[in-house]
Amino acid sequence: MLEVEHLAVSFGTLRVLDDVSLAIPPGQAVGIVGPNGAGKSTLINAVSGTGQVSRGTVRLAGRDVTHTSAARRCRWGIGRSHQIPRPFGDLSVFENVLVAAERGAGLRGRDAAAQALRSLEATGLLSAANTMAGAVPLLGRKRLELARALATSPQLLLLDEIAGGLTEGEADELVSTVLSLKQAGVTIMWIEHVVKALVQVVDRLVCLAFGRIVADGSPEEVLASREVAEVYLGGALA
Ligand SMILES: Nc1ncnc2c1ncn2[C@@H]1O[C@H](COP(=O)(O)OP(=O)(O)OP(=O)(O)O)[C@@H](O)[C@H]1O
Ligand SMILES: [Mg+2]
Repeated sequence: MLEVEHLAVSFGTLRVLDDVSLAIPPGQAVGIVGPNGAGKSTLINAVSGTGQVSRGTVRLAGRDVTHTSAARRCRWGIGRSHQIPRPFGDLSVFENVLVAAERGAGLRGRDAAAQALRSLEATGLLSAANTMAGAVPLLGRKRLELARALATSPQLLLLDEIAGGLTEGEADELVSTVLSLKQAGVTIMWIEHVVKALVQVVDRLVCLAFGRIVADGSPEEVLASREVAEVYLGGALA
């Protein structure tokens, strides 16, 4: 579904990603872990088309999308959430998700509204549908990010830290939402520091550090690896 090959991203002289290669087969869920500043969000930006690529290629379902606009990639099936939520603050929660259904999935009228409602229901936001997005607290804004991504009908869903700061019950709810997407066949790349939530969903873990992949394998293998222990300096991943 997704093939990233020899990806490099630099901002001026700062090399943030360096020769990253990663393939995710259809239907697989991959978790991305790594310390702050490792380049995880930069990877999502390069795949979704909102960030620049200095070298390398990004392919979606066999098609080279390295230079394709983010809007077109979205129509072709890439949905994403943002680490820092960016709703339209002066639109309601429902309207925010409706825009995603219309612009991201190309739906119109009742179909768009029905899709928006389904996305709100799946993310537990139905009761906040008429609240102005700018007035929604952080937890709700994180859910809104997920709802907006879902409304675009993604085949490949990129999630950037959606579980931080949740209570255990809330995290469990989130895990079951993402699991049901996976069971529906959506391919998932999920960046998350809350490893406990991540391992309940993913088939595979990739650890990124200093712009390079330092481990890639089953969650058990990766969490037990020396390379990962070293980049976390013995603890933060507990
Ligand atoms: N647009 C940009 N211009 C300049 N530097 C950037 C830009 N975007 C990211 N960086 C830098 O690239 C590095 C990696 O950032 P990135 O956001 O990808 O890390 P991350 O792994 O997502 O970290 P975190 O876990 O804190 O979210 C950081 O040093 C960051 O300051
Ligand atoms: Mg990040």
